[in-house]
Amino acid sequence: MKSKMAGKIAVSVLAIAVLMPLTASAECKFVTTKAGNAAFTIKPTDKDSPEAKKFLETCINPYTKMYVADPEAAKAGKKLFGYWSCTQCHGGNAGGQTGPSIIDDTWQYAKHQTDKGLFETIADGSDAGMPAWHAQAANNPELLSTDDILKIIGWLRAGYKGTDQSKPWLKE
Ligand code: HEC
Repeated sequence: MKSKMAGKIAVSVLAIAVLMPLTASAECKFVTTKAGNAAFTIKPTDKDSPEAKKFLETCINPYTKMYVADPEAAKAGKKLFGYWSCTQCHGGNAGGQTGPSIIDDTWQYAKHQTDKGLFETIADGSDAGMPAWHAQAANNPELLSTDDILKIIGWLRAGYKGTDQSKPWLKE
């Protein structure tokens, strides 16, 4: 009798453990950089990498630490930066052209010291000349995926030339 009861308890504990991740899955909440600071949502897709899925749950970009530690791997982000013509406004190494430098200490918005903040401006654009690039935010399936943007951010962090040694994005 006793063991049957224990078995029942074990089964319900197991059921809770299995159901928990489904019900309690976290979501990174995005706020546009444009006037009004409205919330916007980026949904995970079937094509998303584990890194993209992790970011959409935790707001932490796994590529940043990966690329800072491995400049060779970071080249994947540089390639995308060129492919999507970010270079036209920001220069080949993101040091600035008609658009601002993205690797110095001058941030257009304070939140750019976090990968979430940088992602919000790249994904949904700004009111001062930065277009929206995320396929979902711009409502254009030809544009960038979450993964593309995260790899670009990882490369930008790996190429950081500013003087802020605290590098807040590495503490995320
Ligand atoms: C048409 C020109 C143009 C293109 C193309 C462009 N940007 Fe921008 N970008 C800007 C401008 C202008 C700003 C400043 C916006 C502001 O201050 O609101 C900016 C700002 C940024 C910032 C914030 C910089 C900082 O120092 O805080 C990032 C990051 C960024 N762009 C990334 C990208 C990426 C990645 C791409 C390609 C997918 C891209 N940009 C393509 C014009 C451009």
